[in-house]
Amino acid sequence: MGLSNTIKNLTSLTIALSSCLVIGSASLSAAELDPGPKASEAARHGAALAQTNCAKCHAVAIEGESTHPKAPPFWFMSNHRSVDTIATMLLEKSGPKHSDMPNFTITKKQANDLAEWITWIQPVAHGQRLVQENCATCHAIGVDDTSPHKEAPPFRILSQFYPIEALEEAFAEGIESGHPDMPVFEAELIDLQDMLAYIESIQTP
Ligand code: HEC
Ligand code: HEC
Repeated sequence: MGLSNTIKNLTSLTIALSSCLVIGSASLSAAELDPGPKASEAARHGAALAQTNCAKCHAVAIEGESTHPKAPPFWFMSNHRSVDTIATMLLEKSGPKHSDMPNFTITKKQANDLAEWITWIQPVAHGQRLVQENCATCHAIGVDDTSPHKEAPPFRILSQFYPIEALEEAFAEGIESGHPDMPVFEAELIDLQDMLAYIESIQTP
């Protein structure tokens, strides 16, 4: 019993110390997290801030579960809030009051940069970048463009033929359209899911 109490005390001490060092202090600090070469300066800075100051509770990258059961993963956040709202919330600390959510001293630039990072990793935004890079040479990927390859269907009409989620399985098995010009893709599950999230978002009724 003595031992387990000591361990418990040590643990809470470590937690107290680390929150002092990392987040309890006057300002946020930045660490390394590689957001990839294409992210803006602001998003890169936001990624570093998130890694140092938020990753203890939130999942801060493009995928993953949060350590803290109540902290929403960053990749999920703009599902119900705009980025501007998130930046304002951080700045004014007007977000949901929660005893586990520390009070940050944060500059306007830091709030904006964190919000930029959060935007960058949203599924639809991530999926849009992937589709732009991998599919746009043949398919129309927007709401009113024309496919460069005349036989490639515009993505916005695909749900007329099948539910978009059905493509997940098709692609996971390596989609074979039977058309010589349609390449066979191998994608990470997260990339595939995010591409489909984007495609879903542009469907015309
Ligand atoms: C000690 C754990 C902890 C840390 C560290 C932490 N958060 Fe949180 N955060 C939470 C919890 C828990 C919630 C959920 C609050 C609620 O809904 O009651 C939350 C909620 C939020 C929300 C509101 C999300 C929404 O849509 O409702 C934002 C934005 C947020 N955190 C941003 C951050 C940022 C940015 C950092 C780093 C600078 C950070 N948090 C660090 C625990 C933490
Ligand atoms: C080099 C050209 C090319 C590229 C790049 C390309 N496609 Fe295609 N795609 C086609 C063509 C051509 C068809 C029409 C095939 C057919 O009608 O049999 C097609 C068909 C499809 C279909 C419909 C399949 C069906 O049977 O209904 C989907 C879904 C699709 N492509 C998704 C994608 C995705 C996602 C990407 C990017 C990751 C992509 N394509 C990249 C040329 C391309």
